Amino acid sequence: TRIDKAGHKHFMSKEIAEQPGVIGAAIGHYLTPEGQINISTQDIDFTQFDRIVMVACGTASYACLTAKYWFEQIARLPVEVDVASEFRYREPPISPRTLAVFVSQSGETADTLAALRYCEGKAARILSVVNVPESSIARESDLALPIHAGVEVGVASTKAFTCQLVVLFALVLKAARDRETITAEAFADHISSLRGLPAIISTALEQNDTMQEAALKLSHARDVLFLGRGQMYPLALEGALKLKEISYIHAEAYASGELKHGPIALVDEHVPVVVMAPRDALFDKTVSNMQEVMARKGKVILISDSKGQAEANDGVWFSIEMPPVPDALAPILYAIPAQLLAYHTAVAKGTDVDQPRNLAKSVTVE
Ligand code: G6P
Repeated sequence: TRIDKAGHKHFMSKEIAEQPGVIGAAIGHYLTPEGQINISTQDIDFTQFDRIVMVACGTASYACLTAKYWFEQIARLPVEVDVASEFRYREPPISPRTLAVFVSQSGETADTLAALRYCEGKAARILSVVNVPESSIARESDLALPIHAGVEVGVASTKAFTCQLVVLFALVLKAARDRETITAEAFADHISSLRGLPAIISTALEQNDTMQEAALKLSHARDVLFLGRGQMYPLALEGALKLKEISYIHAEAYASGELKHGPIALVDEHVPVVVMAPRDALFDKTVSNMQEVMARKGKVILISDSKGQAEANDGVWFSIEMPPVPDALAPILYAIPAQLLAYHTAVAKGTDVDQPRNLAKSVTVE
């Protein structure tokens, strides 16, 4: 089938807009009508593992890093995350009670495939989360979970990332069930949160004009910092990656608490600092880091919900308001502003959004 832009200027904007639909599809595949996770215990039984290693490249590695927070907090399973190019040559010891997880949109990334092969015969089980079910990584796994995102054309991954997160979250809930680290009530709450997610993503997409306005401001910057804490830290990394990939603006992400250990030296009135801070348990901590930035005249773009904005947006350069979302799912929602900020900044700069210079959609050579 031929894929077209369906009236959009770029594939990337089409793929961003498709997210409520494809996320809904992924949720439909992994939740049963009875509110259970549609992954059988014959296929994977989390009582058999005492550790997970997750390996990927690029955006997929940030999906892994997000899942680490979920697996550890909700299923109490220790997770190690590494980029494939480091993992494969490190000769990491893999105990027989390790689950090895590989996340890849294309399923063909050479380093990720090599890392998978390294784990063969060592890990208890090899699981992959892929967009292409016929891919090499899927074929060489004990179990491949498709993300149902549909074909992704834009080099900068968008809908594949959020669908990877949805599938990983379902997997975490399955793990928590198997390992009995969650009450029936909390489990049911997470299931209903997931079902509500596509509508919340749609609401966030309605902020498109605000994101464009923020992006126009960003487009004049030479360097941009992204900050987040806890499960929002991987989203800061993803926001910085998206921005540099397609707008060619130098961007770096830091865990907010690490700010004072280096990057704060870079902050002055020329540096926009994007702060991803839903009003969660770590909000006050992030806000105090944000105030350190403002005290050095850094220009803060605060991305938060209405409560967070009301409490903390005094003196910020720009506010982007996100709809409220259940805490655990905030990383999936905050992918939307990360994507749209990068997209509109790139459009403002006139770069080749779908095919940025020097990058390939799938890196099949080392
Ligand atoms: C390339 C793409 C990225 C992608 C990465 C991993 O670098 O430009 O957008 O995140 O490869 O690709 P994969 O297909 O393994 O997810």
